Amino acid sequence: MAQALKKLSVQALKNNYAEAITTGVVSRASSTWWSNVQMGPPDVILGITEAYKRDADPKKVNLGVGAYRDDQGKPFILPSVRKAEEIIYKKGLNHEYAPIGGEAAYTDAVAKLAFGEDSPVLKNKSNCTVQTLSGTGALRLGLEFITKHYAKNKEIWLSTPTWGNHPQICNTLNLAHKKYRYFDPKTNGFDLKGAIEDINKIPEGSIILLHACAHNPTGVDPKPEEWKQLSQVIKDRKLYPFFDMAYQGFATGSVDNDAFAVRLFVQEGHQVMLAQSFAKNMGLYGERAGALTFLCGDGDAAARVLSQVKIMIRTMYSNPPLYGARLVQEILSDPQLKAQWLKDVKLMADRIIAMRQQLRTGIEGAGNKLSWQHITDQIGMFCYTGLKPDQVERLTKDFHIYLTKDGRISVAGISSNNVNYIAEAMHKVTS
Ligand SMILES: Cc1ncc(COP(=O)(O)O)c(C=O)c1O
Repeated sequence: MAQALKKLSVQALKNNYAEAITTGVVSRASSTWWSNVQMGPPDVILGITEAYKRDADPKKVNLGVGAYRDDQGKPFILPSVRKAEEIIYKKGLNHEYAPIGGEAAYTDAVAKLAFGEDSPVLKNKSNCTVQTLSGTGALRLGLEFITKHYAKNKEIWLSTPTWGNHPQICNTLNLAHKKYRYFDPKTNGFDLKGAIEDINKIPEGSIILLHACAHNPTGVDPKPEEWKQLSQVIKDRKLYPFFDMAYQGFATGSVDNDAFAVRLFVQEGHQVMLAQSFAKNMGLYGERAGALTFLCGDGDAAARVLSQVKIMIRTMYSNPPLYGARLVQEILSDPQLKAQWLKDVKLMADRIIAMRQQLRTGIEGAGNKLSWQHITDQIGMFCYTGLKPDQVERLTKDFHIYLTKDGRISVAGISSNNVNYIAEAMHKVTS
């Protein structure tokens, strides 16, 4: 070791330090502490974006990433968010620490958005709501809380399929996860019968994860009547429902309609847990504004849960970031700004709905004989096209269209400029 260091310092002096680094002498010397670390697989979605970036073809399209784009294919800054930024700037706020669980004005506002302004569970203060690092942070915190404090059957049931990060977070936490049927590949729709059959067999006291709206990756949501049936069977089986609501407003264009399932479950007496994200519906992807709510039944339980959640946050990241939460709070608490935001959300949802229609019309208009009705039946940011892996591969190889291997496309990546090209390509690879 001493000899190696001596050799290194001599070389650094001789050839200058930067050159010593490029020769690898420095990296070899310092990497010995981590020789046991295996190379991890790249993130599936981010890997697609990397491949897309490397492609020099001018016709290339990225339908992999779940981020909204305007009709010019550009990231969209919501007018309501711009206005909120101006207001916050003028307030001249400082950069002191936020409270561990976030500002009360923020957590109150986001809980009302999810559960409804007049929700009795908020009025009697039986909720524990904390700011989190967006939706992923809420899921991680909530699931970690379960591993530490949940006293019933510590296993969680996920829909087939589900967002890839759900099982990954469970794996990280050593939380056992199992699957219930959700998507029917034959109809490209919701498999109510399969879901009910499977949920009916879940051991009492287990946790069930539900996508509140705009299911990712399938774009398939249960209808209100079907949610009622799910609520009943979940109650009968005495399961603990954990809702993931990353797309409130994105499914139907109305934040209240999209909160239907969550509010129904609450009305029917479920003490739900809820992860919220403002990444998509406010376009605040990088600001990491989210929330985690536990409905605890009474104020005393809520206070005890909050005390333990705060300990977990304190030891993980101490307190949450301010800026995104300030924007959310400003928008939700100013009636004029909120009205503008509701219009902004609707504009995004409507553009997605219009692109679904144009894509379907384009494929059918090209003379394709398959059914493409599911493109317009499904809702939210994603469409589960039903394309097989070899067809996906051809789309990417021959047409420079990037999407996940399971055939999921982000409809938000489609625009008036590329919709015909994508429709033509989808027609060609499926006929
Ligand atoms: C189903 C689902 N849950 C949660 C999230 C969390 O997103 P974020 O951490 O960016 O809020 C996403 C994002 O893609 C998602 O699709």
